[in-house]
Amino acid sequence: MPHTLAVHTHQAVCLITLQRPQALNALTSELLAELAEQLQRCASDDSIGAVVLTGSRKAFAAGADLNEMAGRDLVGMLNDPRQAHWQTITQFAKPLIAAVNGYALGAGCELAMHADILIAGEDAQFGQPEINLGIMPGAGGTQRLLRAVGKSLAMQMVLSGEPISARRALEAGLVSEITPPELTVERALQIAQRIASKAPLALRLAKEALLKAQDLDLASGLRFERHAFTLLAGTADRNEGIRAFQEKRRASFCGK
Ligand code: HXC
Repeated sequence: MPHTLAVHTHQAVCLITLQRPQALNALTSELLAELAEQLQRCASDDSIGAVVLTGSRKAFAAGADLNEMAGRDLVGMLNDPRQAHWQTITQFAKPLIAAVNGYALGAGCELAMHADILIAGEDAQFGQPEINLGIMPGAGGTQRLLRAVGKSLAMQMVLSGEPISARRALEAGLVSEITPPELTVERALQIAQRIASKAPLALRLAKEALLKAQDLDLASGLRFERHAFTLLAGTADRNEGIRAFQEKRRASFCGK
């Protein structure tokens, strides 16, 4: 049983809630290890189609745990086991939705940006305050933030350390929707349920293709998309999807 997370599975969606309220869900090695372990479990469980990750009303996560970080020197950072946990989170291949209320700061903002879809409560704050500590983002913050919000706002956030509001995050494209805080998780679960009813192989390849769009040139991205599209043409779920349309019924996908 995880100590720093609550895990609930309902139908095909797993809801993972960060639970270190005494430290605003600051990310310790233990929490990251447990999160990575739960995502690995979800990845290998065919009955789970999507995952929602959330925190509390006050904080999604207020960053890396600074008390733990204070005890690490350069050698400790170089051999940091948390790198492997971040890698596992990055490689999660099923749809991942973050439901963010309150603070999403530093590594907390970076964790939210690992999600494929971000839904934010109206009171959410996104920020990379590492510069205030004499450091800089180290879990993808410079790279993912710039891709999400563009150069000028990313520079402003990372170099000044000032957070942005949920509304600003919506305008900038960091989040796809904002909701009243009490509805954030419910809305994320609703989207996750809808996603989880789709064909798993199509979801997996569509997610991969969209993520590649951030890294590849257009010609390479289009080549990947064509390969993925062709692969799906050979699946039972593609036949089922089209047959269900013709027979005017809801498709029942099997993941093959
Ligand atoms: C450890 C933390 C914490 C953190 C908050 N707490 N953030 N503990 N690590 N990152 C603890 C506080 O010490 C306090 O514990 C309790 O949570 C409540 O926080 P308060 O500060 O009393 O709350 P509030 O006044 O509402 O202020 C909220 C806050 C502030 C603005 C979010 O807590 C804050 O600035 N936190 C640090 C944010 C930050 O700098 N994050 C980036 C971390 S560096 P006690 O015991 O006193 O009640 C990072 C680098 C990642 O993420 C690198 C990845 C490789």
